[in-house]
Amino acid sequence: MEIISENKPFAYKNQDIGQGRGVYISTYGCQMNVNDSDRMYSLLEMANFTPVDSPLEASVIIINSCSIREKPVHKVYSEVGKYRKLKDANPKLKIGIGGCVGQQEKEKLIKNQPMIDFVFGTDTIDTLPDILNDLILKEESKDDKKNRIVKAGFAHREPYHVETLVRNPGVSTFVNITKGCDNFCTFCVVPFTRGREKSRPKTHVLQDIHTLVKRGVKEVTLLGQNVNSYESECGTSFADLMKTIAKETGIERIRFTTSHPKDFDQYLVDVIAEHQDKICEYIHLPFQSGNSRILERMNRGYTREQYIEKINMIKKTIPNVVLSTDIICGFPGETEADFQDTLSMVREVGYETIFAFMYSQRPNTKAAKFEDQVPDAIKSERLQRLFDAHNTMAFDLAKAYENRILDVLVEKKHDDESVAGNIKFSGRSRQNKLVYFEVPAAHSDLIGRTVNIKITKAYPAVFRGDMVGSIN
Ligand code: SAH
Ligand code: SF4
Ligand code: F3S
Repeated sequence: MEIISENKPFAYKNQDIGQGRGVYISTYGCQMNVNDSDRMYSLLEMANFTPVDSPLEASVIIINSCSIREKPVHKVYSEVGKYRKLKDANPKLKIGIGGCVGQQEKEKLIKNQPMIDFVFGTDTIDTLPDILNDLILKEESKDDKKNRIVKAGFAHREPYHVETLVRNPGVSTFVNITKGCDNFCTFCVVPFTRGREKSRPKTHVLQDIHTLVKRGVKEVTLLGQNVNSYESECGTSFADLMKTIAKETGIERIRFTTSHPKDFDQYLVDVIAEHQDKICEYIHLPFQSGNSRILERMNRGYTREQYIEKINMIKKTIPNVVLSTDIICGFPGETEADFQDTLSMVREVGYETIFAFMYSQRPNTKAAKFEDQVPDAIKSERLQRLFDAHNTMAFDLAKAYENRILDVLVEKKHDDESVAGNIKFSGRSRQNKLVYFEVPAAHSDLIGRTVNIKITKAYPAVFRGDMVGSIN
């Protein structure tokens, strides 16, 4: 799973300090947070606020935070600190913390950092317009007391009702299908920051996709911490949901993330294989550790052998499948031999992409209290060895794409990088590869179309190629 860890830098100019209703959101974390930020912008736009591109133009700054790994609270405070000059110049500027750190720390954030005006959680996003209107109203009524608001409880709605709100849907958009997680992997903070797992009604998901298709969306990524444990109130499984989306909506491509190995079964694999006209053959299946004893301590619900069996089943049914994974190095009690099991798993499965992290002790989690924590130096040395081992393999796997023709859904035009007479575009192949290509200026309207690109140069992260045809 991709994790955003840095935010765009900005330069102070001391002018244009936002006095109106401009909102700037700074987003950390996973796709869930990216999707939530879009929801926040949409809700606030409906309440007459205006999304802006820079904190300099904002009268409301929101940090949509992530708590998955080390020092998340510190990161929040350090970003808030960067806004000190803006707040001094414009005392009406409101600064709020949302996302997983907001959910986890609640009023502690306000107590420790006077610049923070409001805190909300992952389940109270819809109260954001009310929070801001309250803050602004109190200010207008000249209430002397500094008014600060914390709304970070969990809603107990069942099932999970939340329509997809996307401001400017591009070619490809996320659609949430589940929220929360009940798996309680012993290293993970998500069950505490996102609450109990809930699924959206199937009719709502379908309705959203119909609407998105009408708005020009070509590809949806079904989103959840554990998408394949989706179960609608009428008993529809994840596999059946995908089948219905493939059959009944006009969406051209379907992706999904993240799947949990324990819920990946033959039926789901069959549905993917059967609907490959729409469902992309790219599967992100985190294994976390290649050693069964560590997997048990992680409470992952599968052994190394069971995971490999699932991979073999996937490869047999979908021969052209592309796999990626998440891995943790240095989980408590991990020995060198256990780590070697992780290395051998990477080689044996042949992942094209890996997302690997050093284990980090998280609040409330069981593993944080395990006594056999691995020293930082060993964790980072193992992580490096893992990246080195994968890197060699990744270059070879990428090279095998050269001269192949891939179907690329065009997402972006790069005007700034286009050279005389040519236009540069980029998009993603079904295998989730980022592909760049240039065409003569006459083809200026390729966005949203699927084109055939012959790959001329392939590196692990990006491909380059030439357009040899167009599909629609
Ligand atoms: N729901 C997804 C994972 C979400 S978190 C799943 O089960 O696959 C994304 C990734 O962050 C995890 O797969 C894991 O590899 C990593 N991660 C989570 N908690 C972590 C921790 N305490 N330390 C290091 N990495 C962690
Ligand atoms: Fe975290 Fe495990 Fe749930 Fe994924 S499945 S979100 S790693 S507890
Ligand atoms: Fe981070 Fe919360 Fe996502 S902890 S990874 S933003 S679910």
